[in-house]
Amino acid sequence: MSPHPHADPHADPHASVAAAPVLVSGAGGQLGRRVVELLRDQGHAVIAASRHPERLAALGARGAALRRIDFDDPRSVADAVHGVERAIFISTDAVGARAEAQRAAVLAAAEAGLAHLVYTSVVSVAAPEMPVGPDHLVTEAAIRAAFPSHTILRNSLYAELLVGAAAGAAASGQLVTARGAGRVAWVSREDCARAAAAALVDGFSGARVLDITGPEAISDASLAALIAQLSGRPVQHVAVPAEALVEGLVQQAGLPRPLAELLAAFDMAAERGLLASASPHLGALTGQAGAPVAAVLRAAALTQGWAAPSV
Ligand SMILES: NC(=O)c1ccc[n+]([C@@H]2O[C@H](COP(=O)([O-])OP(=O)(O)OC[C@H]3O[C@@H](n4cnc5c(N)ncnc54)[C@H](OP(=O)(O)O)[C@@H]3O)[C@@H](O)[C@H]2O)c1
Repeated sequence: MSPHPHADPHADPHASVAAAPVLVSGAGGQLGRRVVELLRDQGHAVIAASRHPERLAALGARGAALRRIDFDDPRSVADAVHGVERAIFISTDAVGARAEAQRAAVLAAAEAGLAHLVYTSVVSVAAPEMPVGPDHLVTEAAIRAAFPSHTILRNSLYAELLVGAAAGAAASGQLVTARGAGRVAWVSREDCARAAAAALVDGFSGARVLDITGPEAISDASLAALIAQLSGRPVQHVAVPAEALVEGLVQQAGLPRPLAELLAAFDMAAERGLLASASPHLGALTGQAGAPVAAVLRAAALTQGWAAPSV
């Protein structure tokens, strides 16, 4: 891998296998588990930390040490990072209610002596229309204040979020969204995990903010064409207002209203262009560009059984 453009010139050039263990919070979640697996596959010493370490036997069997961490309990944070130099705090799923706990967790980790903190934020975090921006802004500010050495990974939307909608569109012939002509640089969760793993072990000791996105931003018209190609059936993009999307998600798909409203808010952010920038940071950090959304949807089509025979 070529060095990161902002790599610390004083970093150990042989630090590709970190000597001290690195800690991954949220190891019970989809992203955290994958970060631990990637690091173990590369031979790194890893502490998999979770609110429920007793559920992480599979990661323990791969050689990860297990510790408890709960951002709602700062004492557990201090205990978890004891003896650790580098850690990633994966943002929690308590959207709208996590900022204070995450801020306290950041402070507890700094006081306990952690040297470098990696955090998963979101692209366009400071835009007022970015629905989860405020939580992340509070956490980012706490990190900047407490950790001179940090990595903020501003992730784009997971391409995996499209999988259900793509299957539905293949069946109904309609991809219904409130993104209008807005384009999104969807990124696979696997690529977010690769970025997180790289940031933990590359020896970087300065402060950096990286946008982790897919290699291209695509419109929903192009997505519909892609789903049509993968399924072998005609699919059209149907652009609707956000309010109509919310009602459809609640009444037809049975989603809880707050979740439907959150998804619609992301659609509106996309419609305004807040998710449209494809960044080179993922490739620079990991040495490999991200997967195109077509690769994620192709895998889903094959797994879920809606792929055309030719795919
Ligand atoms: N970029 C995107 O499109 C996108 C989409 C959805 C979510 N996200 C964000 O990215 C994060 C990771 O994604 P994911 O797919 O892995 O989500 P996920 O599978 O839903 O995982 C939720 C995560 O939140 C952690 N968590 C919840 N409460 C916590 C607490 N009190 N203290 C510490 N950790 C806590 C969980 O850790 P344990 O269960 O191990 O304690 C778990 O890692 C999400 O939590 C969310 O902030 C991003």
